[in-house]
Amino acid sequence: MSAQAQASVKRLTPLDIRSRKSAEPIVSLTAYDTPMAALMDPYVDFILVGDSVGMAVHGLPNTVPVTLEMMILHGQAVMRGSRRALVVIDMPFGSYERSKEQAFENCVRVLKETGAGAVKLETGEAMVETVRYLVGRDIPVLAHIGLRPQAVLAEGGFRTKGRDATSSARVLAEARAMDEAGAFAMVVEGVAEPVACEVTGQVCVPTIGIGASATCDGQILVVHDMLGLFDQTPKFVKRYSDFREQARSAFEAYAEDVRRRAFPGSEHVYGAKTI
Ligand code: KIV
Repeated sequence: MSAQAQASVKRLTPLDIRSRKSAEPIVSLTAYDTPMAALMDPYVDFILVGDSVGMAVHGLPNTVPVTLEMMILHGQAVMRGSRRALVVIDMPFGSYERSKEQAFENCVRVLKETGAGAVKLETGEAMVETVRYLVGRDIPVLAHIGLRPQAVLAEGGFRTKGRDATSSARVLAEARAMDEAGAFAMVVEGVAEPVACEVTGQVCVPTIGIGASATCDGQILVVHDMLGLFDQTPKFVKRYSDFREQARSAFEAYAEDVRRRAFPGSEHVYGAKTI
């Protein structure tokens, strides 16, 4: 791409995503660093700097220990690597639940310090007023309903939602509430397929599925999952690569080369200056 063409690339906005309801499917992946964001940028509509960074990059057991500072640092890195995709930053556990004022303050900090275009909040019933408050003060919010990973301690694990009548009714009520509160789209995670399908049919904003339904208006995956960087692949993930094996065999080959002095070769070393 020429420098001129690069300069004229316009970043997608929350309104662009909002306008894709029942249209061309919305493509999204998570990213946490500059090179990965740059690689995926031409292919995705929005990049989520997910709090899954805690597990994917920092080796944490779940997303609970992830901090606002971590999200800001990774958000800045992803913004530097991307130019076209909307970048959405996940608000970490504890940064928005206390009050709508706390949520506003921290969301503003995230948007100012990263330059990202929107934030994502895990939004159970308790978050409806907060989302309305944020949207009413010009903060674009991507809601996250269904399985909420930040509730892992309270729920004692990760459980698929919408498998019985009570849970299905709750998911549908959450979806309608987020629609009405003004979220520009909603991630629907870990929800039984028929319920995810019903949610998509009932709300006016795009639904972005993960472990949900092909009928959602878009799909998102954790980049480390789809590239095959973890040894386990959840049922809802399709592996598009086997990076783990590729990286392992590259490390093996490098170690072997160094041990038998096959690396560096003459092409990798600098000669003396010829005057
Ligand atoms: O943190 C994350 O990566 C997410 C996606 C799984 C939607 O919330």
